[in-house]
Amino acid sequence: MSSANTAQPKPVLDVVGLAYGYGSGSASSDTVIRDLQLSVKEGEIVCILGASGCGKSTLLNLIAGLLQPRSGKIDVADASHASHGRIGYIFQQDALLPWRTVEANVMMAAELMPGVARDEARKLVLQYLQTFNLNESILKLHPASLSGGMRQRVSIIQSLMFNPKLFLLDEPFSALDFFTKLKLESEFYQLVKEKNKAAIMVTHDIEESVAMADRVLLMSQNGTFTKEFVIDLGDGPRSPESARGTARFAEYYRDIWAELKAVIAQ
Ligand SMILES: Nc1ncnc2c1ncn2[C@@H]1O[C@H](COP(=O)(O)OP(=O)(O)O)[C@@H](O)[C@H]1O
Ligand SMILES: [Mg+2]
Repeated sequence: MSSANTAQPKPVLDVVGLAYGYGSGSASSDTVIRDLQLSVKEGEIVCILGASGCGKSTLLNLIAGLLQPRSGKIDVADASHASHGRIGYIFQQDALLPWRTVEANVMMAAELMPGVARDEARKLVLQYLQTFNLNESILKLHPASLSGGMRQRVSIIQSLMFNPKLFLLDEPFSALDFFTKLKLESEFYQLVKEKNKAAIMVTHDIEESVAMADRVLLMSQNGTFTKEFVIDLGDGPRSPESARGTARFAEYYRDIWAELKAVIAQ
């Protein structure tokens, strides 16, 4: 392992010339993703916006290795490292096992990954509960007795326990009420920055994308990225909440909305 304090952030994901279609042929009409490039570095949050059906979830499934590319290359750093889960995948609805307690859900990594000691894992769980403002008492509960926001936090902790470098998030906060969503955005943002993880987040919420992302990518109906916005809200510490109050925030919102309207109208 090279040291963590190298000057240049290391690449976490490299996608080159990616193409995919659900049919067996290679007809253009059947192509969902075409000639797509995407690089993500550690510490970076990239948000993807696009019309419904343009291929955002398909792209995440390809990166997660759930679908095999028709052509192109997907390189994930640390993919073969034994102590790392490859990728943490968070959906709109949590994927917790309902018959297991919260504790048994978040301790799954200790069961499934060789070399993860239970007592170490348990300590880590307690730390993550603090990060996500959850009380230890929820460990004994079952997912059904938690609010949506709590379940989503537990989902994130569950995947964090596999120690992935890269998170894929598919509209993760869109089923939550506004204030819960703001809190979770901040908690997740801090986590990525502090632990030097990386995240690709699909969202339909322009404000959320500007608040959280280092870069916002617009995906067209052609299944490729047509526009990139580098989000620079000025110097100083940033959080998704403080970002929302800045003048630049409103400008990015307006510019992205104008472009997104054009993309959706195609
Ligand atoms: N399992 C599947 N089989 C066939 N077509 C699919 C399948 N999943 C998605 N599609 C199609 O692929 C396109 C992209 O879908 P998807 O990636 O889910 O879009 P998004 O997440 O951007 O809304 C859509 O036209 C959708 O109908
Ligand atoms: Mg989708």
